Amino acid sequence: MSTIHDVLDRKGETVLTVNSNVSVLDAIKTMADASIGALVVRDDEQPLGMFTERDYMNKIALKGLSSATTTVADVMSSPLITVDIGEPVRIAMETMTECHCRHLVVMDKDAMAGIVSLGDMVKHMLEDKEAEVEQLSSYIAGSY
Ligand SMILES: NC(=O)c1ccc[n+]([C@@H]2O[C@H](COP(=O)([O-])OP(=O)(O)OC[C@H]3O[C@@H](n4cnc5c(N)ncnc54)[C@H](O)[C@@H]3O)[C@@H](O)[C@H]2O)c1
Repeated sequence: MSTIHDVLDRKGETVLTVNSNVSVLDAIKTMADASIGALVVRDDEQPLGMFTERDYMNKIALKGLSSATTTVADVMSSPLITVDIGEPVRIAMETMTECHCRHLVVMDKDAMAGIVSLGDMVKHMLEDKEAEVEQLSSYIAGSY
C-alpha cells in the first residue's frame, strides 16, 4: 500500500514558506512565480498555518480587501492540517476530503518533511494503477 513517503520520494521534500508579516500581494507573487496554490506560513521555523488560493478568493477578493496592505497572518488558515509521512495515500485523501483542503503538510515525527497536494495524490494513484495494469497484463500474457 502506497504511503505519503512514496509520494514525497517522487516529488521531493521542498516546502515553500512565507513569514506571517509578509503582504498578501508578495505572497501571491511568490505563488504565481512557483506555479503553486499554497504557502506554509512560518516564523522562526515554527509552522503557523497555510495561505492558499482559496484564502485569497474568500478573504481578500470577495471582501474587497487590499492585498498590498493585508498581511498573510490576517488571512491564513490555521491550525495547520498535517499528515504523518507513514500514512497510506488513501487515508490522506480522505483527510483532504473531510477537511476540504487541497494541501497537507507532511510531518516526520516533529519535523516538517514536505507538502502534498491533491494533484500529487491523484497523479500518484494513477501511476500506481497503470503499473498494476501493466503487471497484470504481462502476467496474463505470460500464462498463455
Ligand atoms: N481536475 C481535477 O480534478 C483537479 C484535481 C486537483 C488539482 N487540479 C488542478 O491541478 C492544478 C495543480 O493542483 P495541485 O492540487 O497539484 O496543487 P498546486 O498547484 O498547489 O501544486 C502543484 C505542485 O506544487 C507543489 N506545492 C504546492 N505548494 C507547495 C509549497 N508551498 N511548497 C512546495 N511545493 C508545493 C504540490 O505539492 C504540487 O506538486 C491546479 O490548477 C488545480 O486546480 C485539478
